[in-house]
Amino acid sequence: MAPPRETMATPAKDKTRTEGAFATERRDLWWLAPVTIAFGFTMFIVYSTYRALYTHMPAALQLPFIENLPDAVNLGIYTGATDAAGSYAWAEQMGWEVVPHYLSPFYSPCLGAGCQHGPLAGLFPFEVGTISPAFYILWAPLMFRVTCYYYRKAYYRAYFADPPACGVEEPRDAYEGESKFLLWQNLHRWFLPFSLALIVFLTYDGIYAFQFTDVATGETRYGIGLGTAVLMLNAILLAGYTFGCHALRHIVGGGKDCMTCPKNGQSLSYRSWKFVSFFNRRHMMWAWLSLFWVAFADFYVWLVASGTIDPIVWIF
Ligand code: FES
Repeated sequence: MAPPRETMATPAKDKTRTEGAFATERRDLWWLAPVTIAFGFTMFIVYSTYRALYTHMPAALQLPFIENLPDAVNLGIYTGATDAAGSYAWAEQMGWEVVPHYLSPFYSPCLGAGCQHGPLAGLFPFEVGTISPAFYILWAPLMFRVTCYYYRKAYYRAYFADPPACGVEEPRDAYEGESKFLLWQNLHRWFLPFSLALIVFLTYDGIYAFQFTDVATGETRYGIGLGTAVLMLNAILLAGYTFGCHALRHIVGGGKDCMTCPKNGQSLSYRSWKFVSFFNRRHMMWAWLSLFWVAFADFYVWLVASGTIDPIVWIF
């Protein structure tokens, strides 16, 4: 007599591991988030380093040089610079009726000796040829982001698998937290004032971008350009990110046992804490949007300033 046929389905082979590096019982795509974050960070680091060093790049690595364009324009830093004769003849040659005043956020505030934009224009007596002006600026937002509580979690996972994800085994045995070498992460709060100041300058740049110079008459005109919207949105997104800072939340509301005492929730510190908490709830979202947009804002200004694309503007 033939043996009875197997009636129960054979269970699927369990591919999870419970021992060793990256061991986990999770069956979802847990690795997707750290890989995406590592990719996003790396792209930003490569692009921002290239643009910060752009003023000193060999010509082969820059967009084609257009004769008679002022340096700040050709390098894609600022669209509103006048030429050596103090005129906008270069803009006329490019067929522009008005010159927008867009400053790349990587170079804001404008500090170098040759700078013609903003309240701090020419504060430092360095020419563009001495050192890239971006280096006066970028250390502050860079250190603010590197030490940000959210970003720490994200890049510890993405770059160091520390841990790779929730419920996934680390590829090392000891856990020391943020001690020893990582104590410098506590400097985060000291970079906060610089980041708050940058919002002021970037807002100034956004408002200033409503102003255009008429190439034919040299008169100031007002309007709105695609760059105006890009720069204003950049300031808003960076403000949303900075206003949600955990350190700021602690500073404005910290040191109290009861947030609503003694003024029944009407104290300035309580209302400030609520304000910061509103942005803090979506800190990750603000972090990524502002990171992406600041790079895009620089990219747009770069393309317009170097004459690669024409500015899109509506003059009132
Ligand atoms: Fe993220 Fe301060 S914690 S900006």
